[in-house]
Amino acid sequence: MDHRKILFVCLGNICRSPLGEGILRHQAEARGLSRLVSTDSAGTGGWHQGEAPDRRSIAVGRQHGVDISTLRARKLKTSDFTGFDMIFAMDRSNLRDIVRVAPHDSSADIHLFMDFVSGEQRDVPDPYYGDERDFQDVYAMLDAGCAKLLDFLHPDSRPAGAS
Ligand code: 4NP
Repeated sequence: MDHRKILFVCLGNICRSPLGEGILRHQAEARGLSRLVSTDSAGTGGWHQGEAPDRRSIAVGRQHGVDISTLRARKLKTSDFTGFDMIFAMDRSNLRDIVRVAPHDSSADIHLFMDFVSGEQRDVPDPYYGDERDFQDVYAMLDAGCAKLLDFLHPDSRPAGAS
């Protein structure tokens, strides 16, 4: 079966996309798909390169058993467009920025995350200037969305009782 490499992209790679990466990895492990799905994250901006995720993202992940504390921010790079099968933008501004820098030989499928998982032209909103509730909302969107993504990629892996 095909191995899929999935990249989550936001603006700073410290709030939303590291959570997407951590949640997808966690869910893939829970479904026994670790060898079939790999994931990473990046930012369209490079201001936070080398930094750990925002402490609020680390905290909300930890509340759900998802450890993202060891991840480090990096900027989206040209080789990501051939190194990953799917690139998911957290919001429509990220999507525009990703498409703008995509090289001509890009082989990645590039999508707005919420559009791909639920058909909605909806952003995972930037929580950077928000409060803990905003980080909880981001977590919930990414958690539900990653489950849908894995259902799509590996329908036989759906957890028992999933609706
Ligand atoms: P993220 O959040 O894109 O979800 O990582 C942000 C992080 C940093 C900034 C903006 C958004 N910033 O302006 O530094």
